[in-house]
Amino acid sequence: MSRLSFLLICLLSLAVGVSSSHKFSRDDFPPGFVFGSGSSAYQVEGAANEDGRTPSIWDTFAQAGKAHGATGDVACDEYHKYKEDVQLMADIGLEAYRFSISWSRLIPNGRGPINPKGLQYYNNLINELVSHGIQPHVTLQNYDFPQALEDEYGGWVSRKIVKDFTAYADVCFREFGDRVSYWSTVNEPNVFVLGGYDSGFVPPQRCSPPFGVSYCSRGNSSTEPYIAMHHILLAHASAARLYKRKYQEKQHGFVGIGIYGWWFVPLTDTKEDAIATQRAFEFFIGWILDPLVFGDYPKTMKEIVGSRLPAFTNHESKQVKGSVDFIGVIHYFNTYVKDNSNSLKMEYRDYNMDAAVELISMLDSSSFELPVAPWGLQGLLEYVKQVYGNPPIYIYENGQRMQRNLTLDDIPRVKYMHGYIGGVLDALRNGSNTKGYFTWAFLDVFELLDGYGSSYGLFYVDLDDPDLKRYPKLSAKWYSQFLKGKSVISDGIIELEKSPSALSHAHIQ
Ligand SMILES: *[C@@H]1O[C@H](CO)[C@@H](O)[C@H](O)[C@H]1NC(C)=O
Ligand SMILES: *[C@@H]1O[C@H](CO)[C@@H](O)[C@H](O)[C@H]1NC(C)=O
Ligand SMILES: *[C@@H]1O[C@H](CO)[C@@H](O)[C@H](O)[C@H]1NC(C)=O
Repeated sequence: MSRLSFLLICLLSLAVGVSSSHKFSRDDFPPGFVFGSGSSAYQVEGAANEDGRTPSIWDTFAQAGKAHGATGDVACDEYHKYKEDVQLMADIGLEAYRFSISWSRLIPNGRGPINPKGLQYYNNLINELVSHGIQPHVTLQNYDFPQALEDEYGGWVSRKIVKDFTAYADVCFREFGDRVSYWSTVNEPNVFVLGGYDSGFVPPQRCSPPFGVSYCSRGNSSTEPYIAMHHILLAHASAARLYKRKYQEKQHGFVGIGIYGWWFVPLTDTKEDAIATQRAFEFFIGWILDPLVFGDYPKTMKEIVGSRLPAFTNHESKQVKGSVDFIGVIHYFNTYVKDNSNSLKMEYRDYNMDAAVELISMLDSSSFELPVAPWGLQGLLEYVKQVYGNPPIYIYENGQRMQRNLTLDDIPRVKYMHGYIGGVLDALRNGSNTKGYFTWAFLDVFELLDGYGSSYGLFYVDLDDPDLKRYPKLSAKWYSQFLKGKSVISDGIIELEKSPSALSHAHIQ
């Protein structure tokens, strides 16, 4: 089946197949399916200038006041409070914790000597998780690229990164791989390079006009997003091959990559928008998954981008193809696609224009919260199943955004989790090879796009308290009930409200 006709069938069947009220429990999920929650190093650890850690590109950016005036200097201070946090995880019955390693904490100059204090911290965290029966899922690179390597050779735009990333990964596999079985190399590179090298509004802030006239001092939006992604794919493949060759036989682990999982819907029922939607999938998702699964970029991308798209040599293609054991999917909401073929005639091309689409958010601008629309995640899981041969998937991020304040009664988050976990169950029942679901985030962390203005956490962190005390929200209690298999839930909140014990600590005052 062609991708386009698959897409149309998929959209049609989803439109009629949405189930809004759902009864299910933990026991309905297959054996081995894992439920967790996540964070990332810069967003949760704090201790940014302690024990030998050096800055990442996010430290530099945030400390210059470019992240809503907020920084991750202290964040949730998990660096000092990891024992308490793991205890909270154990208390609610969390089965897995996804976190990332701060490269510049472990290897302060990006390459060379290991920082013993950094090594100790990750050993401590991993030991604490394992001793509480919580499975660690580790991401090697989650936005916080070492500033030292950025300064030295421009980070991901240089091919030198492949060697340094592989050496860093080698240290992590060697030191932690006896206890860590799930590795992701790079987190959502499709969003990272768009933000960092195309529009350039986030670190490393490389871009060229018409973007970033006031904030990009270097870069090339026509070429660098593709170059950076190419090096990310090569670095990923190099690290994954190293793992297979040197560690997998003994450690029995898996290496994947996290991708930002858009679900695209044509804005209108015209053929132009349908084709544009297909193009969006190829440019935003196929960009990563086609090389990993088929060994090359999508044909449409090659045609439109031409010589600005780096080419894989035969050897590289073989390295990249089949270099993932699983795909990590990050998904929050759905997006309309409108055809914008006119952009192909423009003189200055950039990544967005190359796709010749206009992406139109489905978010309600009057609401801070995200809509509960799990059919998009189901569609995406089905798309990956059909187009890419049903690889194992971990849903590594999915969660509800709310304003950060003292409301622990986060009913919209409970409804969102109920909707999406139910959607995953439907996808599983239709043959998806999804292996786990991780809600973002465990704590109210420093959010890369909102600073401390929004929250996604199961636990509220009181930033006015010098001790940064954590308080469980209703969603933590709901998730805990679900994880402990205690009650069959129907329509999210309703069943929970019938259970007085679940609500007894839902308010601070
Ligand atoms: C970007 O790179 C392309 C290809 O090398 C070149 O033609 C173009 O002039 C560059 N643009 C800028 C703004 O440097
Ligand atoms: C928290 O924020 C929500 C959404 O803006 C608002 O409705 C609610 O009143 C706020 N609660 C407190 C205690 O500030
Ligand atoms: C369920 O799977 C079948 C077979 O792969 C597919 O044809 C169908 O479109 C899927 N349904 C949904 C709702 O994804």
